Amino acid sequence: MDPDPRPPQVTFAVTKDLPRAEVLALYRAAGWFAQDDPAPQLDAMIANSFAVSAAFDPAGRLLGMARALSDGVSDAYILDVVVRPDHRRQGIGRRLVSALAEHLATFGIDWIVCIGVPGTESLYQSAGGEPMTGHTPFRFALKPGEVAP
Ligand SMILES: CC(C)(COP(=O)(O)OP(=O)(O)OC[C@H]1O[C@@H](n2cnc3c(N)ncnc32)[C@H](O)[C@@H]1OP(=O)(O)O)[C@@H](O)C(=O)NCCC(=O)NCCS
Repeated sequence: MDPDPRPPQVTFAVTKDLPRAEVLALYRAAGWFAQDDPAPQLDAMIANSFAVSAAFDPAGRLLGMARALSDGVSDAYILDVVVRPDHRRQGIGRRLVSALAEHLATFGIDWIVCIGVPGTESLYQSAGGEPMTGHTPFRFALKPGEVAP
């Protein structure tokens, strides 16, 4: 028997047409926004993403999402993978990532990368990803106008 079957009664779609309040609730549940933060940047985060995959219950309620930043032809980065806390460990996260990666691949994009937090290795591997060796993630936390010496 498949140990991680597609969860029943969950539908997946690649769409940016998502209820803002439910997106915000997901981001708050992940700890990415404080409960009292109206997060005005959230709309641009979604609108400026190349693609967003989303999971819905039969009532159309948003259960989870993942988004990708991309130039649309060669490179893409998957980020902000999140599932409602009461629907985790049902394979929804894995399906969100694999659906998004498959969508990106239809554009011929062959550099599809995700920087996962510790503990998410099996999630991304089960979605078709392979750990990268020979590459090191870097973050640039420079302030505007600040130039590295
Ligand atoms: C990370 C996150 C998206 C995973 O979502 P999810 O829907 O629970 O993911 P999946 O169910 O596809 O897989 C997660 C785990 O559940 C396991 N699992 C899946 N179906 C299961 C089931 N029916 N019974 C038991 N375990 C199951 C998977 O094997 C995996 O286990 P492991 O990671 O302990 O090895 C979710 O925990 C989340 O939203 N976290 C907060 C935001 C966050 O940290 N995102 C990651 C940023 S890199």
